[in-house]
Amino acid sequence: MSVEVRNVTKQFGSFTALDHVSLKVESGELVALLGPSGSGKTTLLRIIAGLEFPDLADATVLYYGEDVTRIPASQRKAGFAFQHYALFRHLSVFENIAFGLRVRPRATRPSEEEIRERVNRLLKLIQLDAMAKRFPSQLSGGQRQRVALARALAVEPKVLLLDEPFGALDAKVRKELRRWLRQLHDEIHITTLFVTHDQEEALEVADRVAILRSGKIEQIGTPEEIYDRPVSPFVYDFLGNVNLFSGRMKDGEVVIGDTSFAVTDTERVAETQTVAFVRPHDIHIARTQNGAHSFPAQIVRCHAAGSVATVDLERLDDRVHFTAQLSKEEYQQLQPKTGEQVFVQLRNVRLFTDDYSI
Ligand SMILES: Nc1ncnc2c1ncn2[C@@H]1O[C@H](COP(=O)(O)OP(=O)(O)O)[C@@H](O)[C@H]1O
Ligand SMILES: [Mg+2]
Repeated sequence: MSVEVRNVTKQFGSFTALDHVSLKVESGELVALLGPSGSGKTTLLRIIAGLEFPDLADATVLYYGEDVTRIPASQRKAGFAFQHYALFRHLSVFENIAFGLRVRPRATRPSEEEIRERVNRLLKLIQLDAMAKRFPSQLSGGQRQRVALARALAVEPKVLLLDEPFGALDAKVRKELRRWLRQLHDEIHITTLFVTHDQEEALEVADRVAILRSGKIEQIGTPEEIYDRPVSPFVYDFLGNVNLFSGRMKDGEVVIGDTSFAVTDTERVAETQTVAFVRPHDIHIARTQNGAHSFPAQIVRCHAAGSVATVDLERLDDRVHFTAQLSKEEYQQLQPKTGEQVFVQLRNVRLFTDDYSI
């Protein structure tokens, strides 16, 4: 286990930013801390970094089994990169990366030759070896963030802590950088905690994702686990678009209108009245009623620009709206028209027992 926090609580005045949080990160793992703004992600990362300290006496932060709870950031050997972690404007790319090594006390400072070697290796790793002499103002936003990451890595940290490192960049560059970060991680396998509020980023980059909600970890698991088996409506909703259908339970199935559908996770079901959760891509539309397992709906709007087509629909019985997502091929085959009536089938219907309103 390379990073472990146990029972970490943090109050700011009467506000509880973290509420008895425990988390284990395996050596070499990349874990994303994902949650809405204000859920406590940065506070947790700062406590792991040693920039902030937990409240409770029995709270613990361990690095490779060693208790560092009360040890300040400068002695923890973590590398950081933050969204607004500006580079030194008056230093070249090379000197920015070398900075953390040059400021070391003489006894632990590498020789000039070692520094040069290490920085050159990092420049290759971030694919900026041709730009060593440039200044930050001569780089794009994405290149600057790569330099910030190389600077964090130069001191050979035991743990890499990234707080929304691509947050200030535009969507296209973010996508490129997140792929690049994943490749980099596969090459160097440094234990990494990565904060983001972007679920797509977390699901694509991380080995495991911890979902924070109001200072607590609501669920932790691989991207597949949390996407396919969300433990709560909050997680389900946070990870993607959702349609809600009110229905009732009968013989282990959920009845929506007059149509019953199988449920993916029947263990959770207790009440008779319930709300079914269905992702837009799990809604199937057809012109004819395919057996008994579909209900009628009217098409309100179609939009086909983009990589998938979206069809907005309205149930005929209670006039509640919902949205289906179709592949381009499905859309072209069906050619749905606004105003027409179609039949709807639901796949992967999920139910939750706890109350949550979206
Ligand atoms: N130094 C501080 N003083 C007072 N409140 C703070 C401080 N730091 C964070 N908070 C509050 O704690 C909550 C969690 O903050 P933060 O960890 O930054 O959330 P996130 O990174 O998930 O957006 C927020 O409501 C924030 O306003
Ligand atoms: Mg934050």
